[in-house]
Amino acid sequence: MSFTKIGVVGSGIMGGGVAEAAAGTGAQVVVLSRSVASADAVVVAIDQSLAKQVDKGTRDVQEAAVLRQRVRATTDLADLADSELIIETVVEDLAVKMELFRALDAVVSSSAIIATCTSTLPVIDLAMQVSFPERVCGVHFFNPVHAMTLVEVVRPLTASDATMAAVTDFVLACNKEPVEVKDQAGFIVNALLFPYLNNAVRLLEKDVATKEGIDAAMKGGCGFPMGPFALLDLVGLDTSLAILDALYTEYADSNYAPVPLLRRMVSAGQLGRKSGAGFYQYGK
Ligand SMILES: NC(=O)c1ccc[n+]([C@@H]2O[C@H](COP(=O)([O-])OP(=O)(O)OC[C@H]3O[C@@H](n4cnc5c(N)ncnc54)[C@H](O)[C@@H]3O)[C@@H](O)[C@H]2O)c1
Repeated sequence: MSFTKIGVVGSGIMGGGVAEAAAGTGAQVVVLSRSVASADAVVVAIDQSLAKQVDKGTRDVQEAAVLRQRVRATTDLADLADSELIIETVVEDLAVKMELFRALDAVVSSSAIIATCTSTLPVIDLAMQVSFPERVCGVHFFNPVHAMTLVEVVRPLTASDATMAAVTDFVLACNKEPVEVKDQAGFIVNALLFPYLNNAVRLLEKDVATKEGIDAAMKGGCGFPMGPFALLDLVGLDTSLAILDALYTEYADSNYAPVPLLRRMVSAGQLGRKSGAGFYQYGK
């Protein structure tokens, strides 16, 4: 089964990336945003992402133009009524996502599938907000979407085999590698990655080394493409904190308890690349 109309809810880092990937399957894509300004911004972000790929030679200029024409942004939820697949990419906050799922239940078609891009939250809690929980699953893309090949396809207790198969086929159509995983906080990657990132902040807090030193150590010593602080800034410190909070809620394991420095930086609005400053400074 292939989807010809796809809705993406949320226009942040992941919303833009997922919309671009979805357009790459040949589908018409509508991105739902909360304001006209953020709807305009997500279209600009997609333009910039495609332009960068063309500059790097990883995408053909013609192909980028065709893909771009398949995406439009809206602020009207009713514009998702004919979407066959809806991918939710709003802030990592269970209450916000649950409210959104209830709103989607009233609008979407009787055969639509809804997939959440949550990094850690219980997909089952979202599935139970709609009248068709068998058609809800997780589709956890990675950031930056155009460069990362993995997608975790998350199976809540309620998902039907048909839903899992359709979303897995969609992931393959995006030229990504799907890996099915149980609906458990952090799935595979974040359950393993976030204790590492959290402990890097702990080392910094204890003055064991500088952030530059820790980043250099993990790149040079482990062959990682970027160090933990560059990665936290890329993911977003608010999103990282929400992921750790969700992991700690699920497992009550002290490795997941967010290090105080991380929480303080989020309170200070130091969110990483998206706010212009996190562990490092970024030109806006
Ligand atoms: N950043 C990453 O590396 C990454 C990777 C994979 C998955 N995710 C997941 O994707 C989702 C979005 O993350 P992001 O990094 O794009 O975040 P972001 O902060 O860049 O964007 C969040 C989006 O949610 C919207 N939003 C915020 N509050 C809202 C509300 N009350 N109601 C409706 N919309 C609201 C914002 O307007 C924005 O469009 C989260 O579930 C996150 O865990 C993030």
